[in-house]
Amino acid sequence: MKRWFVLLWSVLLVCSLSACGKTDRNDVSGSRDSRASIQQKEDTTDGTKNVSTDSKVLIAYFTVPEDVKTSDNDAIAGASIVVKDSEKMGNTEYVAGLVQKTIGGDLFRIETKDAYPLEHDTLVDQAAEEQEKELRPELSNHVENFEQYDTVILGFPNWWGDLPMPVYSFLEEYDFAGKTIIPFVTHGGSGFSATTDTISQLQPDAQVSDNTLSLSREDVADAEDEVKKWAQGLGLQ
Ligand SMILES: Cc1cc2nc3c(=O)[nH]c(=O)nc-3n(C[C@H](O)[C@H](O)[C@H](O)COP(=O)(O)O)c2cc1C
Repeated sequence: MKRWFVLLWSVLLVCSLSACGKTDRNDVSGSRDSRASIQQKEDTTDGTKNVSTDSKVLIAYFTVPEDVKTSDNDAIAGASIVVKDSEKMGNTEYVAGLVQKTIGGDLFRIETKDAYPLEHDTLVDQAAEEQEKELRPELSNHVENFEQYDTVILGFPNWWGDLPMPVYSFLEEYDFAGKTIIPFVTHGGSGFSATTDTISQLQPDAQVSDNTLSLSREDVADAEDEVKKWAQGLGLQ
């Protein structure tokens, strides 16, 4: 009887100890799991941070998709729009979209508080006057956390052989020190004119890349392959 009692007691003791052990292991394993997931989260966060810090690209562009149906051959007058799948876009806007489609990055359209006239002659007159007076049109939107970007791909139309004045406003608003600026232009025959030098003067502590893209408005609508090839060649993916 005593032997049976001792045996029963031993079995109960072993069971209770093993149950205890099980509970302990569950807790430990639980806390290990949560530590692991925190660690993993930290790793992921770090990884994501590193990736985004290393390759954070802003594609900023200015465009005015004119409301014109012109067949004028003047280098300055001409269709300033691309129509794809019924969507009407400015030339520079279209190129900026292709760049983003190719390499990713954040797209930012530089917009002014006062909208530009879409009628061609009125637009060119206003642009000429702004340039003559060296105006800085007020911008209506702003880049959040500009400091997070290492590279700014900057697209604009050639306006009277210069940057459109809102692009001056944009370049003077932010600190580009240590960043790379990669310009691209759409134009009616003048290419960049002296705009890349102007960008360097406005942001002397930025590196203005030589790997630029200049597209005549005549070629923009068919330039998808050229734009993609250029964007891929920037090594920013
Ligand atoms: C106000 C204005 C001035 C322009 N001046 C020039 C110029 O000096 N040289 C040139 O090659 N093209 C000139 N153009 C043509 C534009 O650069 C060209 O149409 C460009 O692709 C327009 O881009 P967007 O549609 O993105 O605004 C001018 C266009 C406008 C509206």
